[in-house]
Amino acid sequence: MLAALAITIPMGLDLYMPVPEDNPLTLEKIELGRRLFFDRRLSRDGSVSCSTCHDPDLAFSDGRALAVGIGQREGRRNSPALVNRGYGRLFFWDGRSPTLEDQVLKPIEDPNEMDLPLAEASARAGLDTTTMARALATYIRSILSGDSPYDRFINGDRPALSSQQQLGLQIFRSKANCTACHVGPNFTDEQLHNTGVAWRNRKLADEGAGQGRFKTPTLREISRTAPYMHDGSMATLEDVVEFYDAGGRANPGLDPEVRALHLSPVEKQALVAFLRALSGRSLKAR
Ligand code: HEC
Ligand code: HEC
Repeated sequence: MLAALAITIPMGLDLYMPVPEDNPLTLEKIELGRRLFFDRRLSRDGSVSCSTCHDPDLAFSDGRALAVGIGQREGRRNSPALVNRGYGRLFFWDGRSPTLEDQVLKPIEDPNEMDLPLAEASARAGLDTTTMARALATYIRSILSGDSPYDRFINGDRPALSSQQQLGLQIFRSKANCTACHVGPNFTDEQLHNTGVAWRNRKLADEGAGQGRFKTPTLREISRTAPYMHDGSMATLEDVVEFYDAGGRANPGLDPEVRALHLSPVEKQALVAFLRALSGRSLKAR
């Protein structure tokens, strides 16, 4: 009963969003979470809020390769888009957090992000940490993206996708094998895979969840969230398609679903054009 109460699910998304029983969605909690999300007092020196790295205009990513927190400290990973995370089952690139309630307080304490002890954050906000976690998690659940040209096409509006994008969709599903992992309404299986992104100089630069595995990210709003991958190492969607066309980066843990594709230039362009059709109406949170 989440939708009728607090938020409208845009076209193309699964109507069912799993919400913990002890943290039902309410408008009040979305509002409180939104305020906390933009509140710089939750960082040690008052310079950084969640929105510093998760900008609503960039589908809640930040346009940088690697995240930059207080005092210009650089983290080791890319700030991910935060759309449709209410449907997620694993959080962080390596899936180390099992719920949004668990995830949302971690950036406050992270020395490279907001670097503030939770007791101090709680005092500054005048709220206990459970209330803060529940409100922030609820706000994240309200950030939805759907109603994209792709969704309109799937619902029968054929001209919503150009013929090039329709070719791209066909390649995405068949020859390029993207749906082996980017599947379902959110274009993710919520599983961990090694595509070889972390393999550098004959070793893993980041183990991820172990053996170089990372969580399959959603592809919704993908044209707005460059640069790409857990390390921000790919500047454009063209770079990403070239990477997969070459079969990822060969390494001992490479997922068997990643293999050389031999796409023609026309097919590569079509695939990129299709990926651009996954941007739609996203909830504006300001
Ligand atoms: C300094 C930049 C920065 C700040 C500030 C920041 N984040 Fe993040 N956020 C990141 C990075 C980087 C990751 C991925 C980290 C990883 O996977 O190890 C992330 C991951 C997440 C995720 C997981 C998304 C997913 O799909 O796995 C959520 C949710 C999130 N942040 C919410 C928040 C909230 C809520 C706040 C404020 C309390 C916040 N972030 C503050 C950079 C930041
Ligand atoms: C074996 C599973 C798998 C297959 C097959 C796969 N992907 Fe991915 N994809 C992933 C994972 C895992 C990541 C994150 C990798 C990382 O950051 O190290 C990812 C990342 C991406 C990203 C970057 C997203 C972001 O937010 O930075 C794009 C774009 C993408 N994939 C598109 C595609 C396309 C297009 C195809 C088909 C040509 C494809 N993927 C095939 C699992 C897969």
